[in-house]
Amino acid sequence: MKNIFWFACVFILFATGLVTAQSTPDRYPIIPRPAQLIQQNGAFLVNVSTTLQIPAQPAEVRSMANHLAEAINRVGGLSPTINILSTPTEPGTNQIQFVLRPDSSLGSEGYRLRVSALGIQLEANEPQGLFYGLQSLLQLLPAPNLGTTQLVEIPACQIRDKPRYTYRGLHLDVSRHFFPVSFIKRYIDQMARYKFNQFHWHLTDDQGWRIEIKKYPKLTQVGANRPETIVGHYEEYDPQVFNGKPYGGYYTQDEIREVVRYAQARYVNIIPEIEMPGHALAALAAYPELGCPNTDGKPRTYAVATKWGVFGDVLCPSERTFSFLEDVLAEVMALFPGPYIHIGGDECPKQTWRNSPFCQRLIRREGLGNAHALQRYFIKRIDSFLVSRGRKLLGWDEILQGSSPRLKLSAGATVMSWRGIQYGVQAARQGHGVVMTPDKFCYLNYFQSDPGREPLAFGGMLPIQKVYSYDPTPAGLTPAQQRLILGAQGNVWTEYIATPEQVEYMVWPRAAALAEVVWTEPNRKDYTNFLARLAPYHLAQFRAEGVNYAASALTTLPKERLLSKATNKPYILLTQPHPSRPDHGGMLTDGIMGTLGGYEVVDFVSFWGRNFGVVLDLGQSQPVQTITVGFVKYTARDICLPRQVDLAVSDDGQTFTPVGTFPANAAEQGRRGIVRMPFALPAGIQARFVRVLAQNVGRVPAGMRHPGAVAKLAVDEVTVD
Ligand code: ACM
Repeated sequence: MKNIFWFACVFILFATGLVTAQSTPDRYPIIPRPAQLIQQNGAFLVNVSTTLQIPAQPAEVRSMANHLAEAINRVGGLSPTINILSTPTEPGTNQIQFVLRPDSSLGSEGYRLRVSALGIQLEANEPQGLFYGLQSLLQLLPAPNLGTTQLVEIPACQIRDKPRYTYRGLHLDVSRHFFPVSFIKRYIDQMARYKFNQFHWHLTDDQGWRIEIKKYPKLTQVGANRPETIVGHYEEYDPQVFNGKPYGGYYTQDEIREVVRYAQARYVNIIPEIEMPGHALAALAAYPELGCPNTDGKPRTYAVATKWGVFGDVLCPSERTFSFLEDVLAEVMALFPGPYIHIGGDECPKQTWRNSPFCQRLIRREGLGNAHALQRYFIKRIDSFLVSRGRKLLGWDEILQGSSPRLKLSAGATVMSWRGIQYGVQAARQGHGVVMTPDKFCYLNYFQSDPGREPLAFGGMLPIQKVYSYDPTPAGLTPAQQRLILGAQGNVWTEYIATPEQVEYMVWPRAAALAEVVWTEPNRKDYTNFLARLAPYHLAQFRAEGVNYAASALTTLPKERLLSKATNKPYILLTQPHPSRPDHGGMLTDGIMGTLGGYEVVDFVSFWGRNFGVVLDLGQSQPVQTITVGFVKYTARDICLPRQVDLAVSDDGQTFTPVGTFPANAAEQGRRGIVRMPFALPAGIQARFVRVLAQNVGRVPAGMRHPGAVAKLAVDEVTVD
């Protein structure tokens, strides 16, 4: 009787057109896009008597059903009953069924989802597959509409889905800035929604040690705190400015266990990273004896870093250091049950080792030959230790440095290729597993839109479309080598990301594009289709949850033009620009300003150790009141303001009359920027030709970052009013 009633309701809804089928991507806005999705007319409409049917075992399916019931309740105000079945039953109408059923084509993460007007079946081999099917199903519910309940209508379809890669990662640096457990959980929630399954937790670095280690309490007592932090970008101020505010934080082991459990329930494995032998100033500040001693044998002193970059002070490859690291890693392994332990390995300058008599003796004793091989010896020791404990080493691509047959890493050692893709190719050819994370496609700390309008970021430029375009499997590998490409990962370095809101801004929606890179087969990828799924559905979801996604990732902003009497007028340069920063033709009067936003000096004409001179031809004699010239002041890169600017005008282009000399403060310290200098001329001047001569200061003045270096002038744009 109940069923007949329900059929009648569905019939009426169809007949009255309340349920309509549209064949557009936004009817099935699933990200990442499933391997196969057959769109069908009609929909399943959840009503007051819809039930969720789940198996009694394993218990984790129960929390998935709860999750779905809560989502249905949020959207539609309905509270479906969850029935736990001891034996699977035949599909019944008005049921949403979760079924574990063998299907060898789906693997451990794949699933099948069938939605019809009669009911929904979600099937998988493993709970993890059910979990991913659930994520897809949740994305078929209506988008949240704050404050109102809606009909819970789920469009009919048949989906078969499984991932392209087994490793689908996001990373978060909690050393440069620290983020509370509540935020880490939220980050994991968002990851799980997009079917990421690896969270790479960058727990230690020069600027802070963030994990409690019982045997070495000073790691957090000392190493988790810094007295202050650099203000703005590394190169923004000259000299650098610091905020004077102590900064610190770390996770207790109890908190870590809680996060690991939380992630497990969402099928996210956590990979802890303990950096060595470089990026270890926080550890050295706590235990200076881990560094190479001075030549007089006394330990050196170290401080937790207060600015960014790569530091020459690194761990000494001594037995004391190795036993420290083994103790630390033993505690780390007790907290993190996953197969991989990340040991960093990147950006380890070798000068300290080259200067160290101890290291030189070690290089000779071990027949290593040089400091690069010493790094390999270091990594190999840790690799062997991890293998002896049943784990696998994961490291940045520098772990490939200094290789020799004797220092071969274990077969399970896995390489994260970040300085491009070539190290991933090299590692796969050597038989190592590879996680691709090339900065140009995967560094989510890079700008995502016009740097002039974006908040402070590391630099670089990674628009969402470029993320989307990435294919992690490089060309030129054999099929066996291709199988070693485990997947890819987005990295989130937090030098310029101080708050949870800013993490979300940098990560979403770009990580949704990356989710599709690592889940979806290339032949199913389509950027336009992706955008149609992303907006408005996923953006509405972000808004409903207060996720601070970057709307700017999806806007393309035309550059504003700066118009004047000089726009597009011809000119001749009187001095030669530096060949690396030439005038590509008309740059000074094209109406388009150069930019600095991405910490790149873009579209300025530069004069290194030379003056700048130009004659503009305005075409006909006319009143000239103000001449404005844009100069870059970026003394951290030796770009100084001119010493003085001399202006002259002419009607024939031959004989020039001086109309003003203007001093400029080339020795000015402070913030970098584009300084547009307006020069007002005496009243009543008429001219066709305008000459600008700007005197280079010659050498970078005292008080700047590189006093005495060859000074550069960078110029754009010249306007006349
Ligand atoms: C890195 O970005 N230094 C791995």
